[in-house]
Amino acid sequence: MTERSEVPLILRVQDVRKSFGGIRAVDDCSLAVSPQSVTGLIGPNGAGKSTLFNLIAGLYRPDGGEIWFGDTRIDGLPPFEIVHLGLTKTWQIPHELRNMTVLENLVLGSKHNAGEHLTNLFFQPGLVRRDEKRWRQRAREVLRLTQLDALANEHAKALSGGQKKLLELARALMTDPTLVLLDEPVAGVNPTLAGNLMDLIEKLRRDGRTFFLIEHDMNVVMNRCDRVIVMHQGRTIADGTPASVKANPVVIESYLGG
Ligand SMILES: Nc1ncnc2c1ncn2[C@@H]1O[C@H](COP(=O)(O)OP(=O)(O)O)[C@@H](O)[C@H]1O
Ligand SMILES: [Mg+2]
Repeated sequence: MTERSEVPLILRVQDVRKSFGGIRAVDDCSLAVSPQSVTGLIGPNGAGKSTLFNLIAGLYRPDGGEIWFGDTRIDGLPPFEIVHLGLTKTWQIPHELRNMTVLENLVLGSKHNAGEHLTNLFFQPGLVRRDEKRWRQRAREVLRLTQLDALANEHAKALSGGQKKLLELARALMTDPTLVLLDEPVAGVNPTLAGNLMDLIEKLRRDGRTFFLIEHDMNVVMNRCDRVIVMHQGRTIADGTPASVKANPVVIESYLGG
């Protein structure tokens, strides 16, 4: 048995493929994420990073390969079942929720993530009341955790770019995930807020959560990730510590140098 296979893995992607028409967005991609890590996924535009995240979260079904979350094979499962298992991806705040408050975003948004349809939430208030108390209680916890308390009653659309990113993370935390996928968590966020957001991620990691994030900001990748995986043309071309990846000639040629 190799050393690597003895390491417990929280996420394992094995030979996963996904094409759109003639485009091979993800092409025999394999990678693994260790528990309680902050693992970065980098690569040029069009490398297939977002598609891979959508495959892991259950938004797309792979054309081939396997995706394992701990001991459970999750490819082919609907997104809400994957959320129930403890794997959540952050989402942009949908337009239906922009006129609602931060608190309502957490309560309604997480019901939605948990598999309830937004239309039901709006037109069948009975359904909403059923778990209302539990979700509101969790929302208060998450507001404290993310230090969004003071903004609880602000409309989502009134938040700054950085605060919106924080709200996206807060919405993901509602379902108490063990693995969180973040697609460009600090894109367009000013450095101070980006630093705060990454501090929060570090704190959540110490509490036992795992983060897998796509990020273009090399400062974040080099200083905040334990491990970096590099994707190019739909597959993994490097995987290691930030320093080793930065010094890898293949990475420099196909990505960092270009
Ligand atoms: N829904 C889609 N329909 C058609 N092509 C897509 C779709 N999503 C992604 N692609 C294509 O797949 C490739 C990988 O895209 P993407 O996963 O967004 O890359 P990245 O996130 O690394 O920039 C690109 O060529 C992109 O145009
Ligand atoms: Mg992308």
